[in-house]
Amino acid sequence: MARIVILTGAGISAESGLGTFRDEDGLWTQYDLEDVATPEGFARNPELVHDFYNARRRGLLEARPNAAHHALARLETALPAQVLIVTQNIDDLHEQAGSENLIHMHGELLRAHCTECGGSFEMREDLSPERPCLQCREIGGMRPSVVWFGEMPLEMPRIWNEIRDADLFVSIGTSGNVYPAAAFVQDAGRAGVATLELNLEKTSNDFDESRQGQASVIVPAWVDEVLRDLEGSEI
Ligand code: APR
Repeated sequence: MARIVILTGAGISAESGLGTFRDEDGLWTQYDLEDVATPEGFARNPELVHDFYNARRRGLLEARPNAAHHALARLETALPAQVLIVTQNIDDLHEQAGSENLIHMHGELLRAHCTECGGSFEMREDLSPERPCLQCREIGGMRPSVVWFGEMPLEMPRIWNEIRDADLFVSIGTSGNVYPAAAFVQDAGRAGVATLELNLEKTSNDFDESRQGQASVIVPAWVDEVLRDLEGSEI
């Protein structure tokens, strides 16, 4: 079980050039999430949904981790098996930065699966309704392996257990609007786990401590502080 469980959201990838959802220029101000991020939307107009994720996948292939992703990877290296990242993000910037103990609770943009045969694939190219499944060759079954609204996020039992057994729960770059992730801070508090928020703005959720700023600045500063305290305590 990890001593530090870290929830990340779109805000940690904003400075890497990937859009957030609810900021003034966020994705949900440009698209109706009902059309592009629900199973009903996909059934209604798969072309529109593929176009939405193809554009985000192409953007991701150009994106690189920022100092916040690298700081969390440094923390995991310094505290082997003591750090778990639970990300709402479907990008691979934590992996690119070197983080390994990682759960993508909303799935991964660089993976796709077939609803006909269950085949699961790494996917770095555009998808379309005409693209046959790489395994069963069926047309129309391929979809991005991301969790849409109305679908169950991944690995929830493990996430809840990890949060309840942690010493510290940290929330980085998320507005705390989407459940079940938005309730993790309450789950932690009920279990007596200390809670810290690192975000551009203070959210309405109730953390023991909340620091505001750009993730690329306040996350490395926090990691340096944790490692300094650790050195101090080990002497
Ligand atoms: N540094 C730190 N925080 C930032 C930065 C930054 N550079 N830029 C934006 N933020 C903060 C915003 O203040 C906001 O609180 O990141 C948060 C982004 O919130 P949202 O856009 O709502 O993204 P997120 O919380 O990750 O959304 C959760 O909603 O649509 C679903 O599945 C989608 O995983 C997503 C989920």
